[in-house]
Amino acid sequence: MEEIRVHPRSSASERRATAEAGANIALTKYWGNADADLRIPANDSVSITLDRTRTVTTVALRPDLPEDEVTVDGRPLTGPARERASRHLDLLRERAGISWRARVVSRNNFPAGAGIAASASGFAALTLAGAAALGLDLSPRDLSLLARRGSGSAARSVFGGFVLLHTGARDEDAFAEPLYGPDWWDVRDLIVIVSRAEKAVPSSEGHHLAPTSALHRARLARVTELNRQLLDALARRDFTALGQAAEEDALLMHAVMMTSRPSLIYWLPETLAVIRRVQAWREEGFPAYFTIDAGPNVHILTLPAFADRLQADLRAMPGVQDVISCRPGPGASIIPNPVE
Ligand code: PMV
Repeated sequence: MEEIRVHPRSSASERRATAEAGANIALTKYWGNADADLRIPANDSVSITLDRTRTVTTVALRPDLPEDEVTVDGRPLTGPARERASRHLDLLRERAGISWRARVVSRNNFPAGAGIAASASGFAALTLAGAAALGLDLSPRDLSLLARRGSGSAARSVFGGFVLLHTGARDEDAFAEPLYGPDWWDVRDLIVIVSRAEKAVPSSEGHHLAPTSALHRARLARVTELNRQLLDALARRDFTALGQAAEEDALLMHAVMMTSRPSLIYWLPETLAVIRRVQAWREEGFPAYFTIDAGPNVHILTLPAFADRLQADLRAMPGVQDVISCRPGPGASIIPNPVE
């Protein structure tokens, strides 16, 4: 990861930095908090940071701005979404002892709010750009801790490749760490877009509902073992073991979602059709496993030799709008000379 420094364009009347971060796909999920205020996840989770689903964010702090202005994909944020970003900047401003408000411009190259965790890449990029603009000298671990306060999964997007996010008893214990770099293993994630609509219940609200499901505790008991399996699968590059663990936890998480009060059903008919297709491929001998975040779109994990064939099949399926083929990608970084 690059060293963080104040952007060269900073001056007495503006402090500015631009950062980039990738979305990540969780192989074991973060669903439910041990501490909701601090966003300490209820369980450890393992993810892959993705190369093609990226967010670029510029933070420009000025002494004359009355309040933070945040634009995502050309639309100004208002209400709770703006306040969430603003509170996140407050955490950074408190550390730096600087109270200047910011103009934040953030762009995703993928549809936000549709099951590709835009909050992960978004808060990772905001944390890094904000810290750099404020001149904060933070270790990658501190950046991950801070990113977690904005969105739990953002703690993982600070790092590239294969990443583990720890739960913890205290704020300072719940941070992500890189397990292996992006080149460790060329696993593919085919993101199957079946809907681009914003989800009705964002994951930050969904976490609060997890304990209302009778299955939440059962999932937490199981996910410890699944994490062990995953770490072992990653070390040995055992794709079947990785896929089985990821698929099981995706189903466990969606079982918790479906049985919480109120019930959260993120799937669409097309989601189930893609799940069935993955199961059929396995019967035919293709290495393919699915995982799904808080949305209807399906992530299909496969190996490079099969990615093109599976992608062609998916594109021919009714209801499939797009397929984004991703590999493990780099962690968050500063863009020294952004094109604006
Ligand atoms: O970081 P959040 O609050 O958007 O939660 C992420 C929730 C899931 O995407 C469903 C699972 C995960 O670990 O990424």
